[in-house]
Amino acid sequence: MLLHTIKEVREQIKQWKKEGFSIGLVPTMGALHEGHLSLIKKATEQCDKVVVSVFVNPIQFCPGEDLDKYPRTLEADTQMCAQAGVDIVFAPTPTEMYGEGQMKSNDFLTYVIPPFFQVNKLCGKSRVGHFDGVCTVVNKLFNITQPDFAFFGEKDAQQLSIIKKMVKDLNIPVEIIACPIIREDSGLALSSRNKYLSDEDKIHALALSKILNNIKNCYNQGVTDVEALKETAYKFLNENHDLEYLEFLNDEDLEEVSTANDDTRVFIACKVGGVRLIDNIKLG
Ligand code: PAJ
Repeated sequence: MLLHTIKEVREQIKQWKKEGFSIGLVPTMGALHEGHLSLIKKATEQCDKVVVSVFVNPIQFCPGEDLDKYPRTLEADTQMCAQAGVDIVFAPTPTEMYGEGQMKSNDFLTYVIPPFFQVNKLCGKSRVGHFDGVCTVVNKLFNITQPDFAFFGEKDAQQLSIIKKMVKDLNIPVEIIACPIIREDSGLALSSRNKYLSDEDKIHALALSKILNNIKNCYNQGVTDVEALKETAYKFLNENHDLEYLEFLNDEDLEEVSTANDDTRVFIACKVGGVRLIDNIKLG
């Protein structure tokens, strides 16, 4: 069922809780693809009732980003969810979530702000305030749907790590389930933003997964020096690529490493045709 108000969702969840059902939440911004569906599938396997939220969260977009043009395909999303056995699609308006004045009045003032050491790197560096918006909306969605389990993709590994920390620090009674990255056969990680890519951009976009796979191959052949591994990326990059970062971090605490090991995750962000793409791979 498609619900637009917090009140309706709360009433349904209350009923289900009374009946002893477990609840799974899959937070999304819609324009659903196979990546989202893999999370949804895991949720339906693991939980009695599944809620998918579809909400393009204005407060996680920085000025000048793609809030207005972000793809909104609620009808198709709802159909996909129905076919996948989702019980509730929760699609609130920004006003429902943040009140009339949204961020401009006293209607909404309280943010959940993740720690600096988690946001002073990777996407947090260029997208200032982005993870405040993510944590705040995810916390609200947890409070609205009270899930036993919530499903997040490793595609956004920094987001996943920040949310795990928030849940631990704030004692939120939910178990976070991490789901692997789903890719096209070409290697390109699925993303709602891939819709912005032209056919030619899509070919250039393959550099991200190629760089990551090549680094993993080199690591498997015994190269562990991060600077040497970084060097291997340049042969895949040309004037069609605007590399934002290529970083090697420990998967647990996102601390930078200079020697790679099985716990290292390699993160890349690169603009192709003006579209900002991210990807990552675990070396172990
Ligand atoms: P969105 O980009 O729609 O992603 C929703 C969830 O799907 C995230 O957990 C993301 O990591 C996962 N996902 C996206 N592409 C994937 C892929 N190719 N393989 C596996 N999982 C994938 O992330 C957000 O929305 C928002 O920040 C949100 C958490 C909903 C808060 O607004």
